[in-house]
Amino acid sequence: MAQTDIIAPQGTAADWTIAQDWASYTTQDHAMWDRLFARQTQMLPGRAVPEFLEGLDILRMTKPGIPDFAELSDRLMQRTGWQVIAVPGLVPDKVFFDHLANRRFVAGRFIRQPDQMDYLQEPDVFHDVFGHVPLLANPVFADYMQAYGQGGLRADALGSIEQLARLYWYTVEFGLIRQDDGLKLYGAGIVSSHGESEFALDDPSPNRLGFDLQRLMRTRYRIDDYQQSYFVIDSFEQLLRMTAETDFAPLYAQLEGLPDIETDTILPTDRVFHRGTQDHATRKKEE
Ligand code: PHE
Ligand code: FE
Repeated sequence: MAQTDIIAPQGTAADWTIAQDWASYTTQDHAMWDRLFARQTQMLPGRAVPEFLEGLDILRMTKPGIPDFAELSDRLMQRTGWQVIAVPGLVPDKVFFDHLANRRFVAGRFIRQPDQMDYLQEPDVFHDVFGHVPLLANPVFADYMQAYGQGGLRADALGSIEQLARLYWYTVEFGLIRQDDGLKLYGAGIVSSHGESEFALDDPSPNRLGFDLQRLMRTRYRIDDYQQSYFVIDSFEQLLRMTAETDFAPLYAQLEGLPDIETDTILPTDRVFHRGTQDHATRKKEE
């Protein structure tokens, strides 16, 4: 993930990368990974898109312990030409986009503490690697991520990062996909979260709406709780077609004149898979 206006900590290279220093993980660190891994791999069959589960196998992420990025990168490189590199935390937008545009996925190397099993403020290695990396073994999704990075550099020049960031949020982080046997999860923020991997699919609270690029880039999102709306794509090919093969410059220009859409709004033009009760968000507000 990216963030504007931060400076590189000492010992960080110009591209913000650091060594993963795999040998310095403790037994407890690896045990924490294994615990999170077991919990999610129990939850996800039948819920996550098959390509995600296949990615875990292809990259041999089923091996116990926090993955060694060098080993993971070797497998990924053979498959789709991607690499995983370590960074200290959030990096500036342009650095983030530039890495993606060059098929480098930046990942945090620290792992959460036992009291953070379910809530984290900054993405850790479990979110970044378990959540994001399996789909990078899929050639179509791998191309989408690279194109997104290239699009980010362009959006930066056009002053439209906020709009493009929403696309990342509602696809890469919190996307749902429609399959013959129902909706499935593919967003990294969902598949790496025990609570949200149930909530996003089964809870009556959130809206589940068809993917519409322009609409989605107008939609705000929540960083403090589960999403109030999820957007559903038909396939990764469709996603790639509607983004990589579309010139966003005229879209950004159009969006400038349009107001934001709130996180829970359903428009008459939306393709509604599920009309959310928003009970969860309402309950939270009353607390
Ligand atoms: N096609 C977009 C542009 O013209 C870039 C992009 C590609 C954005 C893929 C998102 C995903 O800027
Ligand atoms: Fe993420």
